[in-house]
Amino acid sequence: MGKRPIIIDTDPGIDDALAIAIALFSEELEVKLITTVAGNVSLDKVTNNALRLLAFFGKDVPVAAGAAQPLICELVDASNVHGASGMEGFDFPEPKKELLLKENAVNAMYRVIMESEEPITLMPIAPLTNIALLFAVYPQVKEKIREIVLMGGSASRGNKGVMSEFNIATDPEAAKMVFLSGVPIVMAGLDVGWKALVMPEDTEKLLGLGEVGKMAHCLFKKYRGGTFKTGLKMYDSCAVAYLLCPELFTVEETYVDVELAGTMTAGCTLVDLKGYLKKEPNAKVCMDIDQEKFRTWFLEALGKCR
Ligand code: BDR
Ligand code: CA
Repeated sequence: MGKRPIIIDTDPGIDDALAIAIALFSEELEVKLITTVAGNVSLDKVTNNALRLLAFFGKDVPVAAGAAQPLICELVDASNVHGASGMEGFDFPEPKKELLLKENAVNAMYRVIMESEEPITLMPIAPLTNIALLFAVYPQVKEKIREIVLMGGSASRGNKGVMSEFNIATDPEAAKMVFLSGVPIVMAGLDVGWKALVMPEDTEKLLGLGEVGKMAHCLFKKYRGGTFKTGLKMYDSCAVAYLLCPELFTVEETYVDVELAGTMTAGCTLVDLKGYLKKEPNAKVCMDIDQEKFRTWFLEALGKCR
């Protein structure tokens, strides 16, 4: 079997950087395109970061810049978690600017999806603005998408609001459009992200994993998604882990919607595990992850990034 074709939609982002590394060096995935969206930091910065990552990894994947702001809300970034540049802590090479397409992310995704012989998998690890725009402008792509495996949302509590997760709460309208799009969705949310930890005993091992491991170690010193002592949360790697190793996860098939109007809960994912809303399932929701196996998988996957 050939490699599984994917598009990564991202806002690098320290945890994005690791998820992208694992996908790019995987023998099972073929990253056809990387699209960027405002989220962790501004569009200019995340696009620059994607191009710096590709220069560092020595990989030539086209990059297309997408939405500079959410559909309706103002962007409130996460530079408090990832640093002012979005990838603070490591001296990356100059961005590989020649990889930046003139096309915007929506047109580039449309072209790559329609040109592909095999259905494409989308892996959004950022606010869902680009994906919502893609479905609004080119609904015909839906039939050619195998599934969307995204990091976002929560079946319990939030990290942006009491109940809301950053990627969904940053652009709730876009997230609602995507969840109700009819395209098969796998949601790797906070419930698993909080458990997908790089633990203190792992951090020293990173230094023995080549240049990418050393880069991770440097970025982690600045990352505020956890600490070296309590464990570092590898949210976005959960999406690529699901693609490469789905047996790490316990999954529930259920209906998921996004709250828009709640005065205190806007941007939360309603994971209707008990069927109150009487709707057909539209997503597979990762409810749990085998923490020990994830740690082993993560270090092994990073070790292959060379
Ligand atoms: C998500 O928010 C971002 O800060 C991370 O990169 C991840 O995609 C976690 O809530
Ligand atoms: Ca991200």
